[in-house]
Amino acid sequence: MADVDVIRVAGPARLNGTVGVVGAKNSALKLMAAALLAEGGSAVTNVPRITDIALMGEVLRRLGADVRFDTALDGSGTVEIGVPATLHHEADYDLVRRLRASICVLGPLLARTGKARVAHPGGDAIGSRGLDMHVGGLARMGAEIGSEHGFVLAEAPFGLRGAEIWLDFPSVGATENLLMAAVLAKGVTEIDNAAREPEIVDICRMLTEMGARIDGAGTSKLTIEGVDALQPVRHATVGDRIVAGTWAFGAAMTQGDVTVTGIDPHFLDIALDKIAQAGGLIETRPDALRVQMDQRPRAVDVVTLPYPGFATDLLPMAIGLAVVSDGVSMITENIFDGRFMFVQEMVRLGAEIKTDGHHAVVRGRPLLSSAEVRATDIRAGAGLAIAGLCTDGPTTVRHAHHIDRGYPDFVADLRALGVTAERLEALPDPEYTFE
Ligand code: EPU
Repeated sequence: MADVDVIRVAGPARLNGTVGVVGAKNSALKLMAAALLAEGGSAVTNVPRITDIALMGEVLRRLGADVRFDTALDGSGTVEIGVPATLHHEADYDLVRRLRASICVLGPLLARTGKARVAHPGGDAIGSRGLDMHVGGLARMGAEIGSEHGFVLAEAPFGLRGAEIWLDFPSVGATENLLMAAVLAKGVTEIDNAAREPEIVDICRMLTEMGARIDGAGTSKLTIEGVDALQPVRHATVGDRIVAGTWAFGAAMTQGDVTVTGIDPHFLDIALDKIAQAGGLIETRPDALRVQMDQRPRAVDVVTLPYPGFATDLLPMAIGLAVVSDGVSMITENIFDGRFMFVQEMVRLGAEIKTDGHHAVVRGRPLLSSAEVRATDIRAGAGLAIAGLCTDGPTTVRHAHHIDRGYPDFVADLRALGVTAERLEALPDPEYTFE
């Protein structure tokens, strides 16, 4: 996509009103891959209408699935996935480099076809992002697995077998790949130090609806008893806690009042507690939350950790809050080595930030200075656009296509929350649109 796609927001402005979130990108992508595990027609509903979902659809098509997108009345998407008896087993670099999450087809492909050839995704703008735990776990399940000519090659001609696996770190992607491999393996697999994110629980739910036997979803130990075959299902994606958290922080940063619907607020317990410590008023309902901030926020320290810790994907929002808060905040990133790359763009808005390794020290100021900035990744882009509302004039965020990868209708949502926001030039990819 060309680099001219730009979002312009007008500061200073407050976010006020109600915004709804649909299903989580990081769940829907994996649910689509999970559909490969059963022959027949599955459907994933409540999916966000974003480029990454369309790209995953393309990955599945090239594996032989029939993929169709529809839009529901509430604006969310439905993906219908027809999975044939025999799948191809290769995901090429062209797609994997555009969608790192396509690596999650590795487990399902190996489970269904006994082999997989998936391009190595390489690093990206937020860090190096290894695959050793995916590979190590599948090897323990009996796969012969290695890397060659830029591809991860895996084979298990006699099928995968259950194994005991300990993850060095509760990796989201490794937990998902191993889980999706284990549901069709012979015998019992235990994944220790598994990731506990709501998106993992969501995949466990879908797999269980398909006939998988999984115990311990949402805990750090998953026990999976392999079955011979799974059945197709229709499954609704869990709400996007990161999009919801973005608006919650947006309310706090801009001293606004925002209600977010379509999300279980418990997924954001620590994030909401930070906003409360900063002086925000929080109200929750089972499927909604409201954040009000009627004063300049106070500085709070934030440390990112695997769920239920503070989400790394909300780090740009935590920095966004810190740059306008009263006092000095220490923000620590523990998941990705490149997550602070966007900090220089915040500095262009007049923010006072010093980084050292995985720490950032931020001294807040009451008003930032409008400027032209560049989105380096999905979350940084959203954080910068919202920080633009805390400036003294119009702020333009270039490379806004990054934001589109994670936030359906970002500009429309900003407008619904009462601020002036516009797209200066949008270049939709005609190949990948919802009908
Ligand atoms: N890691 C390894 N080896 C592995 C696997 C992971 O070293 O085998 C490292 C990574 O390099 C990274 C850390 O472990 O430093 C965490 O990686 P993890 O596997 O948990 O993350 P992921 O599956 O690659 C998903 C989300 C990210 C989100 C992280 C953490 C998707 C598609 N992506 O990534 O979301 O930040 O979990 O919660 O689910 C985003 O949506 O903007 C995004 C980056």
